[in-house]
Amino acid sequence: MEPVTTTIIYYSATGTVHALARAAAEGAEKAGADVRLRKVAETAPPEAVEADPDWARHLRDTAGVPEATLDDLAWADVVLFGTPTRFGNPASQLRAFIETTGALWFQGRLAGKVYSAFTASNTAHGGQESTVLALGNTFYHWGGVIVPPGYTDPVQFKSGNPYGASHVAGSGAPGDVSLEAARHQARRAVDTAAALKAGRTA
Ligand SMILES: Cc1cc2nc3c(=O)[nH]c(=O)nc-3n(C[C@H](O)[C@H](O)[C@H](O)COP(=O)(O)O)c2cc1C
Repeated sequence: MEPVTTTIIYYSATGTVHALARAAAEGAEKAGADVRLRKVAETAPPEAVEADPDWARHLRDTAGVPEATLDDLAWADVVLFGTPTRFGNPASQLRAFIETTGALWFQGRLAGKVYSAFTASNTAHGGQESTVLALGNTFYHWGGVIVPPGYTDPVQFKSGNPYGASHVAGSGAPGDVSLEAARHQARRAVDTAAALKAGRTA
């Protein structure tokens, strides 16, 4: 059977979600997937970015990460979306990309894929669950197969978020638990897609 194709599409202003996205890519690769790691385009005005040294630095540091295209979405059996929370919702940069997918959706080409989402916030109850669930609204519209991590691995009892990997950025950069939760989430999504793919080709 062909390997499961997996695209990780993320937005990150200051690097937290980027670190989770890289861990998710590792997890997907470990599970045998062909992986594309893609950032979405920055849409904030340059003066806003430059006013925050961490934001400006991260944008420069990730200049080499390819920007997500509709082909990256169409190609994938599994799509993992990562975004920081913005007042309990996904970042507008990620939404802007999602709102270019109308034609693919209309052609039914977003249906039947495995979807899952991960996030970061600055504070412990700052909207991680609502952000992941908000992305879920879109997955429902696409006819996606939503695969959350649940409590399907010991790391989930440490990370504590069954909706999707998440990290509290206010307590520092993602450490072992948050990164392992992202790896586990990706592995589980890929394993599920592999089972679906095998069933569909049987
Ligand atoms: C406009 C805006 C809104 C935000 N809203 C929240 C929020 O509601 N709760 C919270 O804990 N953090 C909030 N944050 C903090 C970000 O979620 C945090 O900086 C981000 O998760 C870090 O991820 P990154 O390093 O990948 O950009 C907000 C940040 C911005 C700029």
